[in-house]
Amino acid sequence: MAIVCKSPAEIEKMRRSGHVVREVLDHVRTLVAPGTTTMDLEHAAESKMKELGVKPAFKGYYDYPCVLCTSINEEIVHGIPSEKRVLKAGDIVSIDCGVVLDGYYGDAAITVPVGGEITPELKKLLEVTEQSLYRGIEKVRIGNSVGDVGAAVQQYVEAAGFSVVREFVGHGIGTRLHEEPQVPNFGVPGHGAKLREGMVLAIEPMVNYGKPEARVLGDKWTAVTADGSYSAHFEHCVAVTKSGPMILTQ
Ligand code: MF3
Ligand code: CO
Repeated sequence: MAIVCKSPAEIEKMRRSGHVVREVLDHVRTLVAPGTTTMDLEHAAESKMKELGVKPAFKGYYDYPCVLCTSINEEIVHGIPSEKRVLKAGDIVSIDCGVVLDGYYGDAAITVPVGGEITPELKKLLEVTEQSLYRGIEKVRIGNSVGDVGAAVQQYVEAAGFSVVREFVGHGIGTRLHEEPQVPNFGVPGHGAKLREGMVLAIEPMVNYGKPEARVLGDKWTAVTADGSYSAHFEHCVAVTKSGPMILTQ
């Protein structure tokens, strides 16, 4: 499958699905507190999606069982919500959400602290990961390449002393959740697919406090850091337009 460029009307539809994703995330994040389970977050997201008249993007995708991915502490991505996972003060939790509205997908993620007291080291991990996403977004311009995006993310993260995960990457998005091209959080400036008007990229840095290696748990989904260090994740969908990067998920 080649890279699909979207018309302005399609990008407008993706802006609507992106907006709904943000509404769901904004609602769910208000419930993050010590004592909340990740299944509570799942239920809140599912009701919000019903209320807003959208379908979940993740549930049923390769048999994934839930509408959210909720990844705590050393979990990188694809943690499965569970009533057994109780959030506690000092944790960090990544909440990844996708919807489909009028045939177009939206996908975004945030990582939030649980309770008021995370360590300064974790606070820095969250800030650097979110900021690295914006460094990548800044490169989403006609004529740049996918490598420019990845290199910007990687350089920012590594300069801060953290590492980027290699095994999982961002992606094109549109009438399917995952389209071409793959969008790694590492790369060489000028390398990879050239960005053209109408491309939409889901950029999603996954940043580890320690070493970059990941492994997948026995549930076949949950990706964790191999060294057990904390990991953070932020994601936006971004369109390539004549006037520069357009963030669709805000
Ligand atoms: N944001 C993630 C991704 O783009 C979420 C996918 S979870 C899945 O890969 F269940 F849908 F695979
Ligand atoms: Co994604």
